[in-house]
Amino acid sequence: MEKFHISGGKPLAGTVHIGGAKNAAVAIMPAVLLADEPCTIYNIPYIDDVIILADILEEVGAKVSLNSGGCAVIDGSSVTCNKAPYDMAKRMRASYYLLGVLLGKFGEAEIPLPGGCEIGARPIDQHIKGFEALGAKVDIEHGVVKARADRLVGNEIYLDVVSVGATINIMLAAVRAEGSTTIVNAAKEPHVVDVANFLNTMGARVKGAGTDTIRIKGVDRMNGCEYTIIPDQIEAGTFMIAAAATGGDVVVADVIPKHLESTTAKLLEMGMEVIEGDDYIRVRGIRKPRKVNIKTLPYPGFPTDLQQPISVLCSIAKGTSIITESLFDHRFRHVEELRRMGANIKVEDRVAIVEGVDALTGALVSATDLRAGAALIIAGLTAQGVTEVENIHYIDRGYEKIEKKLSAIGADIRRLKDGENLLKVISSNIAVR
Ligand code: UD1
Repeated sequence: MEKFHISGGKPLAGTVHIGGAKNAAVAIMPAVLLADEPCTIYNIPYIDDVIILADILEEVGAKVSLNSGGCAVIDGSSVTCNKAPYDMAKRMRASYYLLGVLLGKFGEAEIPLPGGCEIGARPIDQHIKGFEALGAKVDIEHGVVKARADRLVGNEIYLDVVSVGATINIMLAAVRAEGSTTIVNAAKEPHVVDVANFLNTMGARVKGAGTDTIRIKGVDRMNGCEYTIIPDQIEAGTFMIAAAATGGDVVVADVIPKHLESTTAKLLEMGMEVIEGDDYIRVRGIRKPRKVNIKTLPYPGFPTDLQQPISVLCSIAKGTSIITESLFDHRFRHVEELRRMGANIKVEDRVAIVEGVDALTGALVSATDLRAGAALIIAGLTAQGVTEVENIHYIDRGYEKIEKKLSAIGADIRRLKDGENLLKVISSNIAVR
C-alpha cells in the first residue's frame, strides 16, 4: 500500500491549476452513451474514479479512449449491453448513473447497488422514485437494481431530499422519455448544471438546471459533440484551505470563483485574505485563523465535501468552532486521526466541537475516505514534524497528482511505494500508532 510522507510547517506559495470536476465527469462520461455518435470530452480529471468508469463503459460495449492530458473520446453507439459488471460497479458510487442512462437508452438496466466512500447510509430511494414516476418497474434483487419500462413517459417528480445523484440520474433517463418531465426540489450544484449543459449540447432539451425546478422535454435522438467540463470546486476548495492552514500565499487558478463563494465566505470569516479574479482565487493565510461555525448544506451552502478539510483549519484556530454535518451521518471518521495529531475535537452525533490548539504535530494516520484523506494531507502540511498518511488509494480516487501539485507550490510531500519506508529516518519525529 502506498502512503504519503509529509514534512510539515512549510507555507505553500505559488500557483496551482485546478482540473475538471470529478462529480461532473463521472456523470458526463456515461451520459455519452445516450447519443448515437461519439463525443469528445475535455478537462477530464485523470483520477481513479474516471479510470474505473472508463473500464465499466468498455465492459458494457462502449469504445473509450482516455488520456492523462484531460481528453476522453467515448463512442457509445456500439453499446448493446444493459448490465454493468458487479465488481467494478461496486467500486464506485457514480456507477449508478448507468441506471438512468441505460434505462433511457434501452428501457432496461441492471446495475449493482453502488459502492463509493463510506460516509454514512447512502440510499438511492429518490433515484428509484424518479424512475418509477417515469413508468419503470424497479426491483432490487441480490444486490442488483433492475429497472424496466415498456415506455418511459415524462412526469412531475418531487424529490423528498435534495439529492445530486437523484437529480442527475432522473435527468439522464428523462431526456429520452416521451413528453415533459419536471424535477421539483432539484439539486443546484454546479455539476448538475454542467451535466444539463452537456446533455443540451448532445441535443437534449433541459431547462432550469441551477434552480430547484428542472424541466426536460424528451427527444428521440441525441448527437455527438465536443464538451469541456467545469473546474472542480472541491479540489479548488481543498487547495484554498491548504493555503490558509499553512499560512501560505496561493493562487488557485482555472476556477469559477462563484462556485466557491461559501468557502471564500468562511475563509474571510476566519480572518484569511481572499482575492477573487475572473478565473482565479488567491488565498493568503495572513494570521492565525479565528473560530467559525459551519453547517454543511446543498449548494450554494457550504459543501459537505469540504467539511473534513476545513475542520483542520478549525483545529488550529483561535477559539472553539462548531461544525454541523447535515448531509451524511459518518463524516467525522477523520477526527480520530486528527486527534493523533493533537487536535482537540469532540463529536456528538452530527456535530463536531473543535477547540483550536496552538499547532498539530506529525503522526502516522490513515485516510478513511476520499475527503478525509485530503484533510489529513492538509493536517500534515501544517503540522510540526513528519506525518505519514496511509490508505491513499481513497485520495487517488478524486485528486489528480495531488502530491505533484502540492510539491510545485512548496510542500514537502512524497509518495512512498509499497514497502518503501522512511520510518527509520523519521523515528525521532513521528508518533507511532
Ligand atoms: C454527491 C457527490 C458527493 C457529495 C454529495 C453531496 C457524486 C458522485 N458524489 O453524492 O461527492 O458529497 O453529492 O453534495 O456526485 N439521499 C437520500 N435518498 C436518495 C439520495 C440521497 O436520502 O435517493 C440523501 C443522502 O443520504 C444524503 C443527501 O440525500 O443525506 C444528499 O445525497 P446526494 O446529493 O444524493 O449525494 P450523492 O449523489 O451520493
